[in-house]
Amino acid sequence: MSSAILFKDIDQPGLNTLAVYRERGGYGDVLRKGLSMPREALVTELVNSGLRGRGGAGFSMGKKASFMPKGTMDKYLVCNADESEPGTFKDRELMTKSPHMLIEGMILGAYAAGATRAFIYIRGEYAQMADILDDAVAEAYDAGLLGNNILGTDHSLELAVHRGAGAYICGEETALLDSLEGKRGNPRLKPPFPANQGLYQGPTLINNVETLATIPHVLGMGADEYAKIGVENSTGTKLISVSGHVKRPGNYEIELGMSARDIIYGLCGGIEGDLEVKLWFPGGSSSPVLTKDDLDLAYDFDTLAKAGSMLGSGAIIVVDEETSVVDVCLKLAKFYKHESCGKCTPCREGTQWTVKMLERIKSGQATPMDLDIMASVQEQITGHCLCVLGDAMAMPVGSMIAKFRPEFEAYIEEARQRSDAELIASLDAPNEAPLVGSLV
Ligand SMILES: Cc1cc2nc3c(=O)[nH]c(=O)nc-3n(C[C@H](O)[C@H](O)[C@H](O)COP(=O)(O)O)c2cc1C
Ligand code: SF4
Repeated sequence: MSSAILFKDIDQPGLNTLAVYRERGGYGDVLRKGLSMPREALVTELVNSGLRGRGGAGFSMGKKASFMPKGTMDKYLVCNADESEPGTFKDRELMTKSPHMLIEGMILGAYAAGATRAFIYIRGEYAQMADILDDAVAEAYDAGLLGNNILGTDHSLELAVHRGAGAYICGEETALLDSLEGKRGNPRLKPPFPANQGLYQGPTLINNVETLATIPHVLGMGADEYAKIGVENSTGTKLISVSGHVKRPGNYEIELGMSARDIIYGLCGGIEGDLEVKLWFPGGSSSPVLTKDDLDLAYDFDTLAKAGSMLGSGAIIVVDEETSVVDVCLKLAKFYKHESCGKCTPCREGTQWTVKMLERIKSGQATPMDLDIMASVQEQITGHCLCVLGDAMAMPVGSMIAKFRPEFEAYIEEARQRSDAELIASLDAPNEAPLVGSLV
């Protein structure tokens, strides 16, 4: 199943330059064809290709473009290059090695959306990638590929790269828009959705880097050919970032529908030390975990959803059998607690309580009843927040408690015994200040 599309030429030296990108066919017939089509025909092509968003939610790219209203008001295209989901590093490789693929995709995406202004919102930590993009945008302007009347057509596009300041929440599309407008990046209430009221209140199409970079390929192959790749309802290829305890972590381009086993044991060479898989996150740290019993699942949107998880951003994090599920849970909860914007109570308080309860478990102060309380906190968060950051912690934490309850219980028992033994030892130790004394 080696069907590289986006990564076909990715290691070609100099691909980040306009000259080499053009040598490999970039900004050529496909761009001309796209800009000469009626806008509606381009949208139809995108809908028919079955291309689903590669940033997390998996919504049809073409349908989202079709929601953009007609009319002459200012419309915007925003590329989400925040790439802040833990475990995800595919957009970074695309932007570093092939920035013009993204720009070409944005010229076409903006045309489909009727937008004449576009932004790439890139996370602040990606300073090197932002510099690369700045250079590529300048080259594209010099070559007349951005600005007024691109390739002599009626389509004009101004494109700017905007650096964020390093907050996970700014990857959420409406928080991203606030941040782009110069405000604190807090999620907005939806509706209105960005297609109706987005950047500066104008209609805005927001898509992930990989989604936009795929557009020239969809057009080059034709929607029908593109739709033949992958499986029903999950067409095309997907860039996946694999990390954790695998022998060969990294970015791979796979045909959707490949089995998770073929990814983890085939492409990534299996688990370090030839251990077993304990659990894996199929779509970034926000996705409910799956176990070694799920390795034969097909890696596509619908199969993973049916299995109670999600494909998300395509970031597979693999955890081996020797790693404590309590440690994984605590690490994850601390991240979401830190990144919660604090706007709504279930997320702000729920993430804090989850961290506190996990710390109680670690220090030997918890009882098995705490597990029930912790599970119920996750239920109270899920579906009760303004954006899905709260759910993004509650779903994986809830799934770990449900699937690894005996391990949590054993940990609680061992930690209690360890803590009791330490207390007794500290009281018995003649040369150390008694614990009771230290409290007064
Ligand atoms: C907390 C949070 C963080 C997100 N981070 C990203 C991100 O870094 N990159 C991204 O493309 N989408 C991210 N998303 C999803 C976006 O809100 C949005 O769905 C996506 O950019 C749409 O693009 P797509 O349709 O091409 O996938 C995030 C969502 C949430 C709730
Ligand atoms: S769910 Fe969390 S991150 Fe999202 S708006 Fe509410 S407090 Fe902020």
